[in-house]
Amino acid sequence: MVRDHTTALEYLKTFEKKDGLSVDELMDSNIRGGLTYNDFLILPGKVNFPSSVVNLQTKLTKKISLNAPFVSSPMDTVTESEMAIHIALLGGIGIIQHNCSKEEQASFVAKVKKYENGFINSPKVISPKTTVGEARAMKQQFGFAGFPVTETGKCLSKLVGIVTSRDIQFIEDDSVLVSEIMTRDVVTGKQGITLTEGNEILKNTKKGKLPIVDAGGNLISMLSRTDLMKNQNYPLASKSATTKQLLCGAAIGTMPADRERLELLAAAGLDVVVLDSSQGNSVFQLDMIKWIKETYPELEIIAGNVCTREQAASLIAAGADGLRIGMGSGSICITQEVMACGRPQGTAVYNVCKFANEFGVPCIADGGIQNIGHLVKALALGASTCMMGGMLAGTTESPGEYFFRDGKRLKVYRGMGSIDAMQKTDAKGNAATSRYFSEGDDVLVAQGVSGAVVDKGSIKKFIPYLYNGLQHSCQDIGVQNLTELQDSVLSGEIRFEFRTASAQLEGGVNNLHSYEKRLHN
Ligand code: IMP
Repeated sequence: MVRDHTTALEYLKTFEKKDGLSVDELMDSNIRGGLTYNDFLILPGKVNFPSSVVNLQTKLTKKISLNAPFVSSPMDTVTESEMAIHIALLGGIGIIQHNCSKEEQASFVAKVKKYENGFINSPKVISPKTTVGEARAMKQQFGFAGFPVTETGKCLSKLVGIVTSRDIQFIEDDSVLVSEIMTRDVVTGKQGITLTEGNEILKNTKKGKLPIVDAGGNLISMLSRTDLMKNQNYPLASKSATTKQLLCGAAIGTMPADRERLELLAAAGLDVVVLDSSQGNSVFQLDMIKWIKETYPELEIIAGNVCTREQAASLIAAGADGLRIGMGSGSICITQEVMACGRPQGTAVYNVCKFANEFGVPCIADGGIQNIGHLVKALALGASTCMMGGMLAGTTESPGEYFFRDGKRLKVYRGMGSIDAMQKTDAKGNAATSRYFSEGDDVLVAQGVSGAVVDKGSIKKFIPYLYNGLQHSCQDIGVQNLTELQDSVLSGEIRFEFRTASAQLEGGVNNLHSYEKRLHN
């Protein structure tokens, strides 16, 4: 007998359980072992709202909220000031790497904290002794001319002139010094002026560039007419409620020298410190948390890394304001191979978050994120944010120069436990980081590799792509925010399916002669 179609919803109610698996059933290690993001899918719900209403607000730590769940890894090929500024403008937060001197790391933090949208904080500067030929070469290299001239050829030095395209256009002798042809009577803006005031000055004086100087006439930053015209609004920007400055994180180790490092970082205005260790459950880290809580009670601490409930409990008890989950899941990581320690990332995220969320301690799913689907899965398993290394490496904002190989434009991306990264030392010959407890050894034991990734363009496009993708995914699942996502997963309302190896193949592109995978326009 075929049922009457109008009774379909009534008939559905007669089933004891919803279709698919609850998260507990999915994550039963006795049945399936540890799972990675690729091992399962989330079953779709009902679409009854536009994706644009999906709110991705979340918590990074007990006290810090973000408008988007994106965190950039503290790695020397991922996060310095440029990355941290732009990811914060787009709603996430950057964690500044510490494989550098403490002074350098603090200067990166200071740049983020002092960033003002629209102002060029590190303008290309020349000195009076720069030649016209050199200025012309810079114009070629950077694609613009309009260089402030300072006594030392650097920022924070007395402004003595400005050189624009028009100044050098008709000078045939390349050896002429810019001091002979520069405009000396420069229109400047005073430190502290607003973007609107600067904009007005540019409009009234019909100038292309407005150097901003302090009371002593030293160059601080610059405004550019072309930049003003393409100036974006950043409604999601992660800012401190009190100072309105961008939020910034930084990583440190757990050695005694890291206490001095933190002093400089705190003075630069750091909002959150990440204790960077591949195995976070150590007496060093517990001591460090205690010391930081006593010394900088306002500073939020993210401890880690962890992948078990026991590790998490130890750090939560010590006072961690957030946890970082992942051991061996990173794209450049060989920890599981070498140390025999670690855990498949889906299982690690699920188990640690379930425990930590009971204490209101937000968790970062760190490592192994390769696409938007992985982001959604990590959030569904309980993570509040996702930390990305490889996904953000190779972007305009990541440190390092592009190079060409095999016809492709690439940037280096390396693990912080790779020999290359661990061999980087400071001026005194000391390893800067101590993430792997091996950096000071005679024989280094690598836990990461060094490689290259393809140019991904700017995160100004890539992060909005991730954001919109997440909104669309939540729409398919049928939830309008991340709290609803996690609550519905825990209540069993949102269902999952385990993916066999052939199901994973089916989920990828197949049976095409060739294709191009373009992820966004
Ligand atoms: P990805 O996003 O998959 O590329 O992973 C990035 C994460 O890998 C970082 O945030 C670190 O937790 C971790 N990581 C960084 N360097 C290494 C390494 O050398 N070995 C193991 N894990 C690493």
